[in-house]
Formats: sequence, C-alpha cells, structure tokens
Amino acid sequence: MEVKNRVLAIGASPRKNGNSDILLKQALSGVASAGTECEAIQLRDYHFMPCTGCERCQNSTHCSGLNDGMQLLYPKLLEARGLVLVSPSHNCNITAWMKAFIDRLYCLYQFTKDRPRQYTSSISGQGRKMVLIAIGEQPQYEIAIGLTMDAMRIPFEYLGYELIGELPVLGVFDKGAVRADTEAMEKAQNLGAQLALAIAD
Ligand SMILES: Cc1cc2nc3c(=O)[nH]c(=O)nc-3n(C[C@H](O)[C@H](O)[C@H](O)COP(=O)(O)O)c2cc1C
Repeated sequence: MEVKNRVLAIGASPRKNGNSDILLKQALSGVASAGTECEAIQLRDYHFMPCTGCERCQNSTHCSGLNDGMQLLYPKLLEARGLVLVSPSHNCNITAWMKAFIDRLYCLYQFTKDRPRQYTSSISGQGRKMVLIAIGEQPQYEIAIGLTMDAMRIPFEYLGYELIGELPVLGVFDKGAVRADTEAMEKAQNLGAQLALAIAD
C-alpha cells in the first residue's frame, strides 16, 4: 500500500465530545491549515478485540486471527504518513481502547525464530511521523499523565514513527473544559501544523 502525505488522527477517549475529542480537532485544524489531507477516527466507534496472541499473523502479513473493526483501521494507518494520537489518562495510563489498538499492531512486526526473538517493523523507514497528546485531571504530571505518553510513544517508535512533538495537558476534568485552556488549545493546533510540515519534507 502506498504511503501518502496525509494525517490520521486517532482518539482514544470513551467520552464523546470530551477533552480528547476537542484537542484532536484542534490538532487537525493545524494539519488542515497547512493544506494537508487528514482524517479523524475515534476508537470507541469501532468494535475490535484485544490481540489474542494467536500468532497467525506470523504466517501472513496481516492480522488473520480476528476479523473485526481493526480490519477497517489497518488501511487507514498504513496509508497515512502522519499520525496524531490523543488519549485521556485512565489510571495514569492510556485508555483500554488505545492499549487494545496498539497490541493489534503486533501483526506489523516480523519476528525471527530464535529466542529471544529479534523483530523488524514492516512499516519502518517510510518517513512516518507522529504527534502525541495526553490529558488528565490531576495537576502533577506523575499522577495526571504518568505512563500515558510513554505508553504511546515507545511502541510507535518501535514501529518506525519519529516523534515530532508531544503535549501533556494537566488539571482538566470536566467534559469540554479544555476549551478554556487557551495555551493547550494553541499548542495542539501548532503541533498539527508542525506534523503537516514534517511529513511534507
Ligand atoms: C476511568 C478513569 C480513570 C482516570 N484516571 C485518571 C488518572 O489516573 N489521572 C488523572 O489525572 N485523571 C484521570 N481521569 C480523568 C480524565 O483523564 C480527565 O477527566 C480527562 O479530562 C478526560 O478526558 P476526556 O474528556 O477526553 O475523556 C480518569 C478518568 C476516568 C474515567
């Protein structure tokens, strides 16, 4: 599949029209301001299972063990050189939706047969770049964001994405309250614009 100069933005909050949705739209408005094609999806709108570890993908090039909503998401991810991930902090970590999504990307690795297995990503070296946004209620990074940013950044770096920027937003609980955080709103938009420029290089 050809990789295009487009951006896929993935939201991982269960709360429709909540803070993550607002930040995601802000980031995408930055992408669009640079004239770059973009699409937003919400993981809560797709029915998919966590990875079952069936290993069938190791005998093919895709997830052949589970025929569910992820089959709609793989082509979107593979086609877009740019990626925006937005997750609220749930117990100092990404939401269960984001975790299940990331685990289902296991099929994008090829592993050797030795132990411990060596691995390569089938989507590395394609100029893929990402922006990460996380939001939590508490005012201190450790208990607001905690592992959330690392839990997105580390697996996607292994897959072959370069980090363009990340935005932790602290101290926001109420649905939609992030709109009042003008600094966060501006930063989210700027990150989107930076991502669009970065994938155009
Ligand atoms: C199950 C659950 C767990 C949460 N855990 C944390 C947490 O560990 N730290 C924190 O600062 N906020 C936590 N929050 C609060 C949310 O991160 C916060 O309200 C955020 O703004 C929600 O974003 P959303 O509107 O996009 O869902 C939690 C919320 C829920 C529902």
